[in-house]
Amino acid sequence: MTASAAVCPLTARRNGALAGRARVPGDKSISIRALILGSLAVGETRIGGLLEGEDVLNTAQTLRALGATLERTGDKQWRTRGVGVGGFAEPAGTLDFGNSGTGCRLMLGAVAGCPVTATFDGDASLRKRPMRRVLDPLERIGARTLASSDGRLPLTLAGARDPIPIEFRPPVPSAQLKSAALLAGLAAPGETIVIEAEATRDHTEKMLTHFGAQVRVEPQGAHGNGRRITLTGQPELVPAPIVVPADPSSAAFPMIAAVITPGSDVILDGVMMNPLRTGLIATLGEMGASIERLDRRQEGGEEVADLRVRAGALRAVEVPAERAPSMIDEYPVLAVAAAFAEGTTVMRGLKELRVKESDRLAATAALLRANGVEVDSEGDDLIVHGKGRAAGGGVVVTHMDHRIAMAAMVLGLASDKPVQIDDGTFITTSFPGFVELMRGLGADLAR
Ligand code: S3P
Repeated sequence: MTASAAVCPLTARRNGALAGRARVPGDKSISIRALILGSLAVGETRIGGLLEGEDVLNTAQTLRALGATLERTGDKQWRTRGVGVGGFAEPAGTLDFGNSGTGCRLMLGAVAGCPVTATFDGDASLRKRPMRRVLDPLERIGARTLASSDGRLPLTLAGARDPIPIEFRPPVPSAQLKSAALLAGLAAPGETIVIEAEATRDHTEKMLTHFGAQVRVEPQGAHGNGRRITLTGQPELVPAPIVVPADPSSAAFPMIAAVITPGSDVILDGVMMNPLRTGLIATLGEMGASIERLDRRQEGGEEVADLRVRAGALRAVEVPAERAPSMIDEYPVLAVAAAFAEGTTVMRGLKELRVKESDRLAATAALLRANGVEVDSEGDDLIVHGKGRAAGGGVVVTHMDHRIAMAAMVLGLASDKPVQIDDGTFITTSFPGFVELMRGLGADLAR
């Protein structure tokens, strides 16, 4: 298990308008996938703009333990030398994923297709998260779970000697589940098929294609909201350079800070605009926020744009459950924006938030209540009664959850009294340099 660093309380207080330009770190989902596919391709893959956050670095460490070569060649520049599909070597020790659910679940898939046995572990937050949902398809492919209490970490997985291609319908909309099945299917002969009822982020499919695998994606379901993804197994993955765009889930924090802090005018550079990741921007648009997409362009196979964000009045909205997969990580900070809107915002269908780095439904409600915002949580819905302001003055318990920590800091920048968090150390899992970047825009964040 990861040794926990000393706790680091942080305080955010009002300090006038935010202004300037900034680039948030590289996308976490793409960074983790780049390291994994680079470790499975034969030859050298160069990656630029990699997120050098704890979740990604922990995943890199596990890939080294499995025999791949990963080197940092410069600032956010990495080089991998892969072992080939099915080529992982048995690791000597436990694979420690720290706080990273994505790293762990995707690597369970990658290991499941190789004839090696490995033990997976993580920190106290990751040990609470469900893994059974990933193990089910992997066991059908031929992997065996040798030890696990209640489908949680630590667990030991014996990869399949002769992996079998499967058809898999994820029981919940989850890119992690889909990706685990596809990565395991790489080593199986024939076609591995994943049928998702609602489309989730498609970075694995796109990157597999980029590395030369054959992947067919077809619309699925009456409204075409779902996807049928067919992967032809046992491809030779050919290294291809990867440029990681700025993470829209990280951009969400300075974006909403600018929207709710009067007088703000901020530009966020090179933010990925993959349509399966832009649910927050659509929602903020409906709330009346001013977010302009400047200089739309393609970078590394994704549309990116510089986002100009200006402060303004917000109105309450109803966010439909169908939008959740395209903004699943953005709800804590959207709930902060909802507090600054006038009226009642209803966010529906948030069941999956209960199994993130913390129970984010409960943690988000607690974050707001501790700071004088009226919140109801009914079933899987979160209801925020916005008054155009928040009292602040609370101490927020972050439960080892980076996004709860950053959402609380955003609230403190616009609330009447300062907001404190018990521990900001986990922010580095996804957003190293958060405090400095926000200070550069004029925020008052104190350690
Ligand atoms: C991710 C998928 C999402 C998201 C996570 C990253 C990914 O999780 O919450 O931060 O990179 O595939 P689920 O697939 O569990 O919804």
